[in-house]
Amino acid sequence: MIKMQELREHYRFTDDDAELLKSLQPLAIENQEKFSLAFYDYLYGLPETAAILNHSNRERLREMHGTWFISLFSGIYDNHYLNHLIRIGHAHVKVGLDVHFVNAAMNQIRHFLLNLIDGNYSDREHRRLLREAVEKILDMNLDVMSTSYREEELKKVFLSRKLDSFLIKATERFTHGLNLVLVLALAVVSIAIVAMFGWDMAHVFRGDVEKGVFTALGSLLILWMMIELLDNEIKNLKGGRFSILVFIGVVIVAIIREILISTLRHDDLKKQAFLAATLLILGIVYYLVSLVQRDQPKI
Ligand code: HEM
Repeated sequence: MIKMQELREHYRFTDDDAELLKSLQPLAIENQEKFSLAFYDYLYGLPETAAILNHSNRERLREMHGTWFISLFSGIYDNHYLNHLIRIGHAHVKVGLDVHFVNAAMNQIRHFLLNLIDGNYSDREHRRLLREAVEKILDMNLDVMSTSYREEELKKVFLSRKLDSFLIKATERFTHGLNLVLVLALAVVSIAIVAMFGWDMAHVFRGDVEKGVFTALGSLLILWMMIELLDNEIKNLKGGRFSILVFIGVVIVAIIREILISTLRHDDLKKQAFLAATLLILGIVYYLVSLVQRDQPKI
């Protein structure tokens, strides 16, 4: 941040300017009330600034703006004064005021003060010097206020950007972790299906060839779909797109296996009809999803 000495140098603000401003203090105190009236008349005339004022403590605000007005003519413009200006910028960001209105309000204050000088000083040269000193201090005020304003706003964006990327990264890691758990679960289920296949084959060796062959076929079908599902999930982990079709396929295959077993068990017609209807619905869903996926670009 700039130092007060640098600021004074950049604006060619001299000790004479400080003295000239100090000489204006009695006139400023005399007109403080008039300043307040004109300032708030202007601010209440704009819907954006009026909305902010309506949410603030009017008396406190009047006192703060009034004190600032008088401090323009204190004659002391050191680092303490600079810190005060920095704080003002921050205060306005906090109330959500667009810096545009600070600039516009400063323009009104400038007119007020220049008119005040014009109306009270007859000597042309002295008037010019006073006007120049006032212009300088107002521009220095605006400079520091808008710089601290910009810094405060940048800080807000930076903070939220940091927070955003942290949240996104954390969520990505969490989803990746969940996908890993899913792959592991699928692997465990696949091992269980292999065991199921072994159990089905045991029927063959026990002499129940028909049941053994059909249920083993069903288990193999499910295993085949599980392999597809695992493959699909691994592709998903590597950044590919997940295919919901494979999931529906697994369910279809499981229903087919159930129908095979149900037929062999000579279950009642109602149960078999229910399984057939479920299979038909899943078939339709599979077809519709495959239609949608066909129209999507491949990644
Ligand atoms: C050149 C223009 C302006 C100057 C020099 C100025 C000056 C100040 C000062 C000195 C403070 C006290 C800051 C502190 O010490 O914490 C303040 C606060 C405030 N100003 Fe201004 N102001 C200006 C424009 C405006 C405008 C256009 C609005 C619009 C509504 C406004 C609304 C406020 C509010 C609501 C606060 C209170 C903030 C808080 O509660 O902390 N000001 N202003």
